Amino acid sequence: MKVLLIGSGGREHALAWKISVSPLLSRLYCAPGNPGTAEIAKNIDLNVADHAAVVRFCVKKHIDLVMIGPEAPLVNGLADSLRNSQIRVVGPGAKAARLEGSKGFTKDLCARFSIPTAAYGRFKNMAEAKAYIYTHGAPIVVKADGLAAGKGVIVAMTIKEALAAVDACFDGAFGTAGTEVVVEEFLQGEEASFFCLCDGTIAFPFGTAQDYKQIGEGDTGLNTGGMGAYSPAFVMTSDMVKCTMRRIIEPTMKAMITIGTPFKGILFAGLMITKDGPNLIEYNVRFGDPECQVLMMRLQNDLLPLLVAAADGKLSTCKQPTWSDDISLTVVLAAKGYPEAPEKGSFIEGIEEAAALPDIVVLHAGTALQNGRLVTNSGRVLNVTTHDKTLRATQRKAYAAIRKIRCPGGFWRSDIGWRAYARED
Ligand code: AMP
Ligand code: GLY
Repeated sequence: MKVLLIGSGGREHALAWKISVSPLLSRLYCAPGNPGTAEIAKNIDLNVADHAAVVRFCVKKHIDLVMIGPEAPLVNGLADSLRNSQIRVVGPGAKAARLEGSKGFTKDLCARFSIPTAAYGRFKNMAEAKAYIYTHGAPIVVKADGLAAGKGVIVAMTIKEALAAVDACFDGAFGTAGTEVVVEEFLQGEEASFFCLCDGTIAFPFGTAQDYKQIGEGDTGLNTGGMGAYSPAFVMTSDMVKCTMRRIIEPTMKAMITIGTPFKGILFAGLMITKDGPNLIEYNVRFGDPECQVLMMRLQNDLLPLLVAAADGKLSTCKQPTWSDDISLTVVLAAKGYPEAPEKGSFIEGIEEAAALPDIVVLHAGTALQNGRLVTNSGRVLNVTTHDKTLRATQRKAYAAIRKIRCPGGFWRSDIGWRAYARED
């Protein structure tokens, strides 16, 4: 099979790494890919915003399957353009991608179909949003409706902070994403990322993880795309997985059919496990980054036939995938200045030494080749990923490996996984 993978991050290197070992694969292209994917696939220069160009490429190269990694092309309808040209694709069309593209859409769907989530209000008007905040008090959560690269959520501990967040949204701090605002109840509990592979009707549970979103040690400071992750999330016991499927995922699949936009692709539920069970915080319509890296390390099956079955609406013909009992963990090496103003152009050495250690896979994200030398090229640079029987052993391996990498313009968090210590000790 010939496969085109869209994206350029650590998530896509992880997918390419997994797809590249499939006996079914004859050729893998990445658009645009990164220096890591270049080692196992052919990187191509395609403007993915130009849907006609992507379709032309697929026709010319006889592509059998397109896998879309990031949310932006999905929300922009790339999967629709491909399907309309009879090209097989994993990923929702634009209407189903509203599950990620509009928080208000998802909240309304949850309300209509009794899917557990925080109580909320949707506002296009600043005064009404503020009145809701005064009525409900703090802590309270203010969210820009649209895509805001993970930055449009403010968990406000005081009414003053919540009001300032509403001002920021309507003043354009998140661009057009903030022209509508969702204000919602603050949920208390433990967070987990839950993934499903969906074919329009059926959803297969596809792994769990916990992401470390904040920049600083001990979960402090600004939110990022994710500074590391481990899988499986200890809070997602098999009973909790079943409960999440029954209360959240299956009703969502049915709801999407009812409204005429069946969900095909990767459904990523951000959950808060409260004392009453799982609540939906948000949906994403793609794998998480860096969660994908730890999921791919634990997946025991060939990924490609599962992706094909999901794209064809034929998951009913497949067995559910199996997962290693090991714990996998990834640590992000980020560029100094991330997330506000990452420095670019610092050299990176020692990847081979790190990757030579047992069970270590170094996945590229924001790297580039400059005159034959590997350098940092955006906020999140590399993901050092590994697995072992216990969280502590996995951590030790990951950190021993990342210390082999020399990158004067880079840094990492030294405590990825810490929230799970209490459950393991
Ligand atoms: P999101 O971008 O929607 O995942 O939100 C970013 C982060 O804000 C989440 O990972 C949570 O830590 C936090 N958050 C979002 N919504 C809520 C909520 N209703 N209650 C408590 N924390 C929340
Ligand atoms: N790591 C969180 C995300 O990909 O949305």
